[in-house]
Amino acid sequence: MTYKVLVLKGDGIGPEVTSEAVQVLKVVARRAAVDFAFEEAVIGGAAIDAFGVPMRPETLKLATECDAVLFGAVGGPKWDNPNAAHRPEQALLTLRKELGLYANLRPVRTLKELLNASPLRPEIVSGVDLVVLRELTGGLYYGRPSEKRQGAEGREAVDTCFYSEAEIARAVRFGFDLARRRRKHLTLVDKANILSTSRLWREIGTEIAAENKDVTFDTLLVDAMAMHLLRRPTDFDVIVTENMFGDILTDEASMLAGSMGLLPSASIGSETNSVGFHIGLYEPIHGTAPDIVGRDRANPIAAILSAAMMLDLSFGMHAEAEWINDAVAGVLREGYRTPDLAAPGTKMTGCKAMGRLIRERLESMERDA
Ligand code: IPM
Ligand code: MG
Repeated sequence: MTYKVLVLKGDGIGPEVTSEAVQVLKVVARRAAVDFAFEEAVIGGAAIDAFGVPMRPETLKLATECDAVLFGAVGGPKWDNPNAAHRPEQALLTLRKELGLYANLRPVRTLKELLNASPLRPEIVSGVDLVVLRELTGGLYYGRPSEKRQGAEGREAVDTCFYSEAEIARAVRFGFDLARRRRKHLTLVDKANILSTSRLWREIGTEIAAENKDVTFDTLLVDAMAMHLLRRPTDFDVIVTENMFGDILTDEASMLAGSMGLLPSASIGSETNSVGFHIGLYEPIHGTAPDIVGRDRANPIAAILSAAMMLDLSFGMHAEAEWINDAVAGVLREGYRTPDLAAPGTKMTGCKAMGRLIRERLESMERDA
């Protein structure tokens, strides 16, 4: 079996962490007797520098022909000019939209070994196991008009939050299906006291809940959720929400686990790939971290766990995905930490060494098996 994977390393620490994840997949391929055919393309700021656009049409075409995309990160101060015609982030937004990746899964779990890495007290974060299902192809990210313009009284700007019933319903249904396979609790997060789009989310969520009585359904306003995530995070199982709220809440939620460098994500939709599983894009939730680029200080774990999600959701390789998760937990248990997680009494490692330790652990587990 050969799986086609498009690797888009992007900018900043994207290349460093994605390289480690690719090498992990190569170890898995040897054991599982599958082959990964890796294609690579330039994207984001690097593509603006090389070709004048954040993503070339041929790269998008390549993405549609692959079984899954492994993504690093895009953006950086160099391309931050607010008046620039092209922005690195556009590449990611186009990929999400064109591949129909409306469901962005961002799981957050705390590991016993890392309870002290969170800025929150261990008794609060102990036992957290939730997943945020962020709607990814609608809302403020895509609504038109979205522009800065000259108005009668000076400069003005507008963004549009638009959601159709179909867009909301498919995300909510995805949430119920996911919750059913977990602890059967779905929380819809909105701002229904203010926004029309949120009131529609709540209305449709409540209708679909009536058909899914085996799952406990509740709703929370997003401002309250921002607080409850820090106060009682273990109360949540699956959280479904619109694009922008999901973006903000998942950066907050990453602090429960201890570091942004730990959190993977999967973006999938209804399309299937050549092996009958989800076409998906897999990326760490962290960004390009310009302050540590090229210094071997990045944490490759989020990228490696994203590769594990790819095995699980795009290739049906559930056991191999668990195998990677176990290897990561094992290395952390042994006390190895990248600088973002450094603590007294732990063994400081760089990005490359962390990747190598995880692969070595995989190989030794391979021998045990
Ligand atoms: C994320 C990121 C992206 C987003 C950026 C890089 C466009 O913050 O995936 O959470 O806002 O969706
Ligand atoms: Mg974000």
